[in-house]
Amino acid sequence: MEPLKVGLIGLGTVASGVASVLNKNQVDITRRITRTPIIEKVFVRTLERDNPYQLNLTTNIDEIIHNHDIDIVIELIGGIEPALTYIKTALANGKSVITANKELIAIHGNELLQLAADNDVFLRFEASVAGGIPILKVLREGLAANSIDSVMGIINGTSNYILTEMSDKGADFAECLKEAQALGYAEADPTFDIKGIDAAHKLTILASSAFGIPLDFKALHIEGIDTITKEDIKISHQEGFAIKHLGIARHSEQGVELRVQPTLVPLTHAFANVNGVLNGLFIQGNAVGEQFLSGRGAGSEATASAIIADLIEIIHNEKAQYSAPALGYKVNNLSPLPILPKPAFSSNYYLSFKYLENTDTQAVSMQLESLASKTLNAPFEIKLYKENQRVIILCEKTIEESVEKLLNNAMLIEGIEETKLIRIEKF
Ligand SMILES: NC(=O)c1ccc[n+]([C@@H]2O[C@H](COP(=O)([O-])OP(=O)(O)OC[C@H]3O[C@@H](n4cnc5c(N)ncnc54)[C@H](OP(=O)(O)O)[C@@H]3O)[C@@H](O)[C@H]2O)c1
Repeated sequence: MEPLKVGLIGLGTVASGVASVLNKNQVDITRRITRTPIIEKVFVRTLERDNPYQLNLTTNIDEIIHNHDIDIVIELIGGIEPALTYIKTALANGKSVITANKELIAIHGNELLQLAADNDVFLRFEASVAGGIPILKVLREGLAANSIDSVMGIINGTSNYILTEMSDKGADFAECLKEAQALGYAEADPTFDIKGIDAAHKLTILASSAFGIPLDFKALHIEGIDTITKEDIKISHQEGFAIKHLGIARHSEQGVELRVQPTLVPLTHAFANVNGVLNGLFIQGNAVGEQFLSGRGAGSEATASAIIADLIEIIHNEKAQYSAPALGYKVNNLSPLPILPKPAFSSNYYLSFKYLENTDTQAVSMQLESLASKTLNAPFEIKLYKENQRVIILCEKTIEESVEKLLNNAMLIEGIEETKLIRIEKF
């Protein structure tokens, strides 16, 4: 059989990993497929650069996306433009496309999936969620017999690294962010990671794949880790919880909850042991029950592993009559579900009330307890952490509207300086 000719767009961290893994695993990969993939050409901005795999470089994008000799395009430059135009052109020209670009898929994925279907080609993006962990394939194929109740994940390695360091060293957020940047685990501009935006792009894709709903990034509620303090981590730990940044997509009778947020998880749950830059995913299917996956959510070769798996799948399906679309549902069979607004969220809660020095702590506690009994509509425990100048309320499952009422009214109590809500997942 003729080799399958691949055009790479970009030659950064992940693209170099693709070249490296194809090279070192050539024998194993070839044994699995009928056509051997070869990197025919790579689009780069300049030819004056390292080229350890001696790839055929070009600065003319048309030599990839308009080249009849190229069968499959792998986009690895990231961001919206020019990646969007390049991918659209490649699909329209009848080439299958693989990308790791979560931002692009979360925001423009519906349109691109339709374009791929219209042109009878594949669009695959396994590497866009949780790097090397094949979660989309698991949802699309392995769990295809299930109705998925929920999928949750630690899906941003940078946030997980920072929270792990804060917890291990009892250090501040700012200090750990600086260290992550020095080690290359956080970008110079860390906004997408620490504000939860990167995780939200990934959860958008996960939710579509889990529930068969269109990609809808705007529907998500997004919170980052930048509001978490070392005191929150210490107190949570004393109460039996770790703080993790989770993406949560949950299907209930009322609709779908889609949120990325710092979350208290029991120290005994598998999530609490996913540390450093690792990712973890927890899925509940109505036939299979609970499943947990963890591993490298980023990195050159780990991410390349997911990209090459997409490549192999495309080769396998080339001649097939039917192959499952990327999200596992037929493009014209995605159906919207009601996305619940924040006041309708239902969760357990950790509520923290910081008070000023020299406050009458007994008086503040009593007022908070009385307010909580009137507003929360759920059992709760109230605790005083004098050394941290905080009153903590741990509340059983209730709707967020009640909790918001409590937090707003608590600010009127004399001596209360700051309130904070962190949701708890008890599993
Ligand atoms: N790194 C990971 O572990 C990881 C994991 C999962 C997903 N991803 C996704 O994979 C994609 C690539 O990430 P990466 O880490 O490999 O990024 P990277 O190391 O920054 O590489 C990006 C490459 O794209 C090139 N590039 C950027 N803009 C370009 C443009 N307008 N025209 C031509 N070339 C352009 C850069 O060229 P120069 O060399 O000239 O700057 C660089 O070679 C992103 O979508 C990212 O979100 C990455």
